[in-house]
Amino acid sequence: MKIAILGAKIIGGTLARKWAQAGHRIMFGVRSVDNPETQALAQELAASVGTVAEAVAFGEVVVFAIPGNAMTETIAAHGSALNDKIVIDAANRMGGGAMNSAADFAAHAPGAQVYRAFNSLGWENFEQPMFGDLQADLFYCGPAGVGRNVVEQLIRDVGLRPMCVGDLRQVGLVDAIGSLWFALAFGQGMGRQLAFKVLTRQT
Ligand SMILES: NC(=O)c1ccc[n+]([C@@H]2O[C@H](COP(=O)([O-])OP(=O)(O)OC[C@H]3O[C@@H](n4cnc5c(N)ncnc54)[C@H](OP(=O)(O)O)[C@@H]3O)[C@@H](O)[C@H]2O)c1
Repeated sequence: MKIAILGAKIIGGTLARKWAQAGHRIMFGVRSVDNPETQALAQELAASVGTVAEAVAFGEVVVFAIPGNAMTETIAAHGSALNDKIVIDAANRMGGGAMNSAADFAAHAPGAQVYRAFNSLGWENFEQPMFGDLQADLFYCGPAGVGRNVVEQLIRDVGLRPMCVGDLRQVGLVDAIGSLWFALAFGQGMGRQLAFKVLTRQT
């Protein structure tokens, strides 16, 4: 798939490595196209680098891996170009209020298929999703249909098991998993190598 990743550092870079290994074509959308670190990463992954507008135009899937406080402005500026895209919101707004940007996407890109994913675990668990023999789950939500198949494949390509909790009305639930991760990793001192697993029993 052609994947635009807005943001090219910790989360953007980690996901890009996994997806490039899985054979996807990556374009980073950044503010400074000539940034040597971004250029080096792109070269390593045979990816390309462009402006945010160029990346959004390139991607069948557009992943937001930028700071939460840059989301409103970025979505407002590029909303109409997102309308036919699969959008993955991985960004967390940390200042109180909703951590996700579903309201901004609804306002500026009502035609986009928006998924909330890759926001609820630290990046280390995307880089290494196995805990011994156990594969970590990644909770996500978003509309049913082809977009969900695409997002699930991208989650599997990172090495996680996709765990859908419903459509975008469940976004607060996915964000609460992120809050749980913070509470355990930092509040309870369990550290960042921490993820979740759903257990079921056949009856
Ligand atoms: N780190 C984690 O473990 C983790 C896990 C899950 C979700 N997240 C979320 O993922 C997002 C990115 O986190 P990160 O840790 O990858 O942060 P980061 O390492 O600081 O990277 C942020 C990236 O966004 C770019 N950026 C900043 N402002 C921008 C703007 N206005 N427009 C376009 N690009 C902009 C930065 O590029 P410049 O060089 O231009 O500043 C940089 O490439 C955050 O919302 C965070 O909450 C992080």
